[in-house]
Amino acid sequence: MNSDKLRQEFFNFFEKKKHKIVPSSSLLPSDPSVLFTTAGMQQFKPYFLGEKSPHGNKAVSSQKCFRTSDIEEVGDERHLTFFEMLGNFSFGGYGKEEAIKLAKDFLDSIKVKIDYVTVFCGNKDIKKDEESANIWEKFGFSEEKGNLKFCGIDDNFWGPTGDEGPCGPTTEIYSQGVEIWNVVFNQYYCEKNKTLRPLPLFGVDTGMGLERLAKVSQDVPTIFETDLFLPIISQITGGDEKARRIIADHVRGAVFLAAEGILPSNVERGYILRRLLRRAIRYGKLSALGGQFLIPLAESVIEIYKGAYPEISAKKDDILTVIKNEEEKFEKTLDRGLKEIQKVPNLTGEVAFRIYETYGFPLELTEEIRKVENREAFFLMQKKHQEISRTGAQSKFGGGGEFSPKLHTATHLLHAALRDILGKHVQQMGSDITSERTRFDFSHQQKMTEDEIKKVEELVNQKIKDDLEVDKREMTHGEALKSGALAFFKEKYPERVTVYSINGFSKEICAGPHVKRTGELGHFKIVKEESSGAGIRRLRAVLE
Ligand code: ALA
Repeated sequence: MNSDKLRQEFFNFFEKKKHKIVPSSSLLPSDPSVLFTTAGMQQFKPYFLGEKSPHGNKAVSSQKCFRTSDIEEVGDERHLTFFEMLGNFSFGGYGKEEAIKLAKDFLDSIKVKIDYVTVFCGNKDIKKDEESANIWEKFGFSEEKGNLKFCGIDDNFWGPTGDEGPCGPTTEIYSQGVEIWNVVFNQYYCEKNKTLRPLPLFGVDTGMGLERLAKVSQDVPTIFETDLFLPIISQITGGDEKARRIIADHVRGAVFLAAEGILPSNVERGYILRRLLRRAIRYGKLSALGGQFLIPLAESVIEIYKGAYPEISAKKDDILTVIKNEEEKFEKTLDRGLKEIQKVPNLTGEVAFRIYETYGFPLELTEEIRKVENREAFFLMQKKHQEISRTGAQSKFGGGGEFSPKLHTATHLLHAALRDILGKHVQQMGSDITSERTRFDFSHQQKMTEDEIKKVEELVNQKIKDDLEVDKREMTHGEALKSGALAFFKEKYPERVTVYSINGFSKEICAGPHVKRTGELGHFKIVKEESSGAGIRRLRAVLE
């Protein structure tokens, strides 16, 4: 069944079961704590809490979703940035029995066979979901038969999106080795401080990736062979499979982001759009795609979705202009930069920084081409450069811009506070300071909890309130290390270094500049916590 048909069959099936068809909401959610819409339930959040739904108590949708968390995974067989999520929703309209039966019946109706299902095994706070297991048993699924598995909180518990919201145990359906459908029972509300309280009504929130469903229904090896991808990917000749997949995914994502009126820039959503486009272009070069190649691919994307999302074809000219401009801009410098990266005998952090300066090549792209030795030097150079020329004129992809000594001092406080609260394993892995915010990458395995974030903020704000002196001293590198000063860069320090200390709390080798006293800083606030690669977390913080 082709994808347009699958989407339509889904609507038809649930419409017959008294669900109201609700159009996809925008990719830009109203909830300020999330950058993009990542799930179908977001537009229905209030109705799970008891607010009266204008759609009645049952709804069905196909939602445009975008997950930045998966950018690095794209290129494998199943991860995507942009995807469509088919879902049926109930706000007190039905319970587990009907939810599971609906899912099973729909898959039967389109002849998709379920391999096995998973059910929540419970933990100390929430009980094992025996009820769902019993319902599945009626359909021939059980632990004994080996087609039902109980799994823990990481696999079978969902939500919330953003800082707070509905959440609950899930039962998940697998077919041909991939998870295709997540059926969530919204029984709880997760508060900002992560405590759960029961919801007044029983909610059902389901999500099935259309791309995965198409893969299974069309019986092709991966999502990239489905009709949602083939017209795009078949135009990309040469290069390896991973590159082709990345290009196809990123062009799709870029088309949908541009359709929302986002323009490539260096911050937030614009940064994501720029990153998609530049990464696609770079992979295109590796695949020996000559000249500018994004436009025909973007046109295919628009063609594929013209029926399901008319807003995409309505904005066609704008979308193509945005993509073309960015491609032209990046193209000019890219070829020269690429040659340089390949030919330099010794690709160190310093060289990578020069390439970044000259050709606008962010470190992450350079590293995809060649290993960068002593990569820390890149950040050192970047910092120095920001200190020397604070013009902000050379604002570039992934960095640049004005530099703020206040945020610099706040970054030292943050570093020390993280080591205090999370432990001494915390090490700075990178930072980027502009006039507006600091971005700090550090080694830490888990996502920080709400509570940890709060404690870190409180500690930093306490040190600001204490109005501590920021002491600056010159010494040899050896003396600095002996005194316990933190050094971000393992090597390549000059013989004499500057050490900044804040009253026994923080001590770092650093080129400065800093403020004289912490009292100058104002109120410190962490605005975002996210992953920045394996074992690395990234914080963004501001001074208010
Ligand atoms: N909201 C659930 C998900 O996104 C269905 O997986």
